Amino acid sequence: MVQSTRIAVTPGDGIGPEVVAEAVRCLETLRAKHSLALEWTRFPWPSHAWHEENGESWPADALEQLKQYDAILLGALGDPGPMDDPDRYLLPDSISLAPLLEMRKNFDQWVCERPARLLKGARQYLADERAKDIDMLVIRENSEGEYVSQGGRLRQGTPDEVATQMEVFTRKATDRIIRYGFEQARRRAEERVRDGRTRGFRTLDGRTCESQVCLVTKRNALRYWGDMYTEAFEEISKEYPDVATHHELVDAACMKFVQAPWAFDVVVASNLQGDILTDLAAVLSGGMGVAPSCNLNPTDSNMPSMFEPTHGSAPDIAGQGLADPTAMLFTTARMLEWLGRKDPTLAAAGKELFDAVAADLAQNAGTQRGTHEIGQAICKRLEA
Ligand code: IPM
Ligand code: MN
Repeated sequence: MVQSTRIAVTPGDGIGPEVVAEAVRCLETLRAKHSLALEWTRFPWPSHAWHEENGESWPADALEQLKQYDAILLGALGDPGPMDDPDRYLLPDSISLAPLLEMRKNFDQWVCERPARLLKGARQYLADERAKDIDMLVIRENSEGEYVSQGGRLRQGTPDEVATQMEVFTRKATDRIIRYGFEQARRRAEERVRDGRTRGFRTLDGRTCESQVCLVTKRNALRYWGDMYTEAFEEISKEYPDVATHHELVDAACMKFVQAPWAFDVVVASNLQGDILTDLAAVLSGGMGVAPSCNLNPTDSNMPSMFEPTHGSAPDIAGQGLADPTAMLFTTARMLEWLGRKDPTLAAAGKELFDAVAADLAQNAGTQRGTHEIGQAICKRLEA
């Protein structure tokens, strides 16, 4: 008998608890159907509600507690809404979102994976018909860069105030994220060949490869880390002659994400640039309601990875049962697939969940449905 896989469920704020409830319903359905060795514990923190009662977003030993789990399934953090309640308990973003960054840092979740694929039934924002072929994976460096949170404010509140915000890029973190990008490109190429969905990417020497990694920097202005990224990319790419390489400056990448997003396969970007690009990529795949995300530590299996949709707490619709749980459910599917590295029955359940969510999306294109209605329809599919 395999040892049970344990998930820490942290619904968080705003629409978080609403979409997480549907994820848990799907997990229950899958567990019952396949007798999965899967357990979960629901935590009332981190959240505004916990802060209101306890004066902090989570208990002092929260990270220690979470470390005991195999994965963390997070709803959303931020303004809890509803927006029309001016008296709601509100915290500055830098406080309410700190636990998210703490988890990434303390569990060394150095990869943030954000796939953007325009699935059938998802809203197509671009008029060009080729938008149907959008299928990219943005890999965001998730451990350092612009997010190291070093710096400070001098002479605060005076006309001579100075704010510094340091960016730190290490060769080690650069190498590992670029290598991870190439590995994912290879994995995606194998999958496409297996499924008969092949693509072609030209190399500079005139060959055509099944996959591509595009490195994004701003090396024309931010040259120190830009040059280091470029050198690491060139070196590591030699180990992957089967993968085409490409580089874009981040501003041009934004333009090309809109003009020709179908031309991208795997995109590797820094923490902040990846953050910004993935809001854009989410829209290319149908909007925040369908965009999954995960924060992974691929190197240390004692550290939990964290799974949260790209969207936030959506205070404008919180508490109304209107939030689309699709992104949360795709994220949950990816979590199961990830946990399947240890227990293959979970990987199969993850694929089943992904297929059910995708089929539901395809069948209900454009219809207005509530959070629970969508969750229920997907559970029904899983039960069938
Ligand atoms: C995200 C979010 C976070 C980030 C914020 C909430 C700190 O935008 O996960 O993309 O910038 O990483
Ligand atoms: Mn973001």
